[in-house]
Amino acid sequence: MGSKEDYEGLVSEILSCTRCPLYSSRTRAVPGEGPLNASIMFVGEAPGRSEDLEGRPFVGSAGKLLDSLLSSIGVERGGVYITNVVKCRPPGNREPFDSEVRACNPYLRRQISMIKPKIIVALGRIAGRTLYEMAGLRWDSIRAARGRVERVRVEGVDLMLTVTFHPAAALYNPGLREELENDFKNVIAPLVRGFKTVRKTTLEEFFK
Ligand code: URA
Repeated sequence: MGSKEDYEGLVSEILSCTRCPLYSSRTRAVPGEGPLNASIMFVGEAPGRSEDLEGRPFVGSAGKLLDSLLSSIGVERGGVYITNVVKCRPPGNREPFDSEVRACNPYLRRQISMIKPKIIVALGRIAGRTLYEMAGLRWDSIRAARGRVERVRVEGVDLMLTVTFHPAAALYNPGLREELENDFKNVIAPLVRGFKTVRKTTLEEFFK
């Protein structure tokens, strides 16, 4: 686990980042949130409108679905670390460009090396592809990757990586929503139970 100082340094770098053009249209950068000793990390694509306004990940409608998926498997949102591949909102919620993903990638790398999660759940194609590439795995498609559990090493951290659909996609597609719910129930819940160490400490308690 990284130190509070290292983490706060990283957060302030992200908040003032100008590495790609997204800084010029953002309201707030969204570094991520959760305990620094979290065993589980969820990684989405990029902030949407609500996240850009609040500066927090997954607080809009996709976030509400993520919250209910977490509670359906008995995991408290406050016990997991939640972030995105890209920390600033792409205008109009377009998909981030590869150049933006690349520019932002050092931040995700540093988050993983500080938090040292045991499990990473990638939400959607962009997060899945990015984490597969970081782990040295070959990415084919979300259909091929979804529901698999890969034992990988990322930034020197040994962890289990799984990919599922993005909650935002599932909001508009009932079929995907069912598959997403099944992945939480049949893949993510057993993984979490396997570790049994979803820490309850909130960031505030942790830093007291
Ligand atoms: N979609 C994402 O990928 N991330 C968020 O934080 C919100 C919506």
